[in-house]
Amino acid sequence: MKNYLKLTFPALSENESFARNAVAAFAVRANPTVEETEDLKTAVSEAVTNAVVHAYPQKDFDAPPEIHIEADLCGNALTVTVRDEGVGIADVEAALQPFFTTKEDDERSGMGFTLMQSFTDGLTVTSAPGAGTAVRMIKFIGAKNA
Ligand SMILES: Nc1ncnc2c1ncn2[C@@H]1O[C@H](COP(=O)(O)OP(=O)(O)O)[C@@H](O)[C@H]1O
Ligand SMILES: [Mg+2]
Repeated sequence: MKNYLKLTFPALSENESFARNAVAAFAVRANPTVEETEDLKTAVSEAVTNAVVHAYPQKDFDAPPEIHIEADLCGNALTVTVRDEGVGIADVEAALQPFFTTKEDDERSGMGFTLMQSFTDGLTVTSAPGAGTAVRMIKFIGAKNA
């Protein structure tokens, strides 16, 4: 049977650490290596940071802006989706390019999506202006222990 995890929390930077560690804890039963765990945490952290930093630029929301994480584990294939209901991305293809950022003023490097791609085995970004963003990542865990 497929095992899964669903998490919803406010889009606050103080939740980034909790979110990446929650996903890493969920993946423990697939017996990940230390390196796989670190890579997974980095990828999830970048996706959550993006939702915190970019998704909800306006401050006055009726409902608190939220981030949703869904993860499932099927054999050694871990799928993680980090989703928000924020402003969305107009040009996803451009956003995926290394060093692309719309926040050059801050300490953003434009390398978030590049890191997510290199630390996972697959990345799909679904987004449109006003329709939020869903970042789906797949990572094969514990393959070396099989
Ligand atoms: N959840 C999101 N909601 C809206 N825009 C996003 C989101 N995630 C990423 N983006 C857009 O994609 C760009 C690239 O993201 P990323 O590669 O992580 O670089 P950075 O976060 O350093 O700008 C961001 O600058 C932003 O414009
Ligand atoms: Mg980023």
